[in-house]
Amino acid sequence: MALEVPAALEAKIDEVITHYPVSKRSAVLPLLHLMQHEYRYITDDAVNWVAAKLGLQPIQVLEVVTFYPGFRQSAPGKFHIRVCRTLSCAMAGSYELMESLCKAADIDRSHVDHHHPIAVSADGKYSIEFAECLASCGFGPVCMVEDDFHESVKPQAAAELLKQYQ
Ligand code: FES
Repeated sequence: MALEVPAALEAKIDEVITHYPVSKRSAVLPLLHLMQHEYRYITDDAVNWVAAKLGLQPIQVLEVVTFYPGFRQSAPGKFHIRVCRTLSCAMAGSYELMESLCKAADIDRSHVDHHHPIAVSADGKYSIEFAECLASCGFGPVCMVEDDFHESVKPQAAAELLKQYQ
């Protein structure tokens, strides 16, 4: 079924496209960010819609979605958590933090793999995934909940952290 994009979002998208007068293809990235912000993840319908909007083949949009780990292809929970697993954070305890967050949020990560990196809690409230460097390497372990940045998060503080997101 074709995606029905709200008029306000489409107006914003039309405005963004004007920033790329030479090649509309360059607008794929900002358009995907807008779509993910609106729908929480990038559906096949969204890929087709963006492709049609820019006069591209869907595969030209999908290749961008799959290249950047910041784009999600499955539905997250109400609060999406990203835990940095790059070296500094890994050494500071990010794997332990991931375990603690999963325990506190009742998330089972046993089915997670490269193609399905997101795990969602049984009640749908939280989802989680590992992320690469979140650019605050001196303050690991670092995680983000939605757009909030949290540094030096002790694994023991996982439950307390989640209380902020209800
Ligand atoms: S290694 Fe985690 S923020 Fe850079």
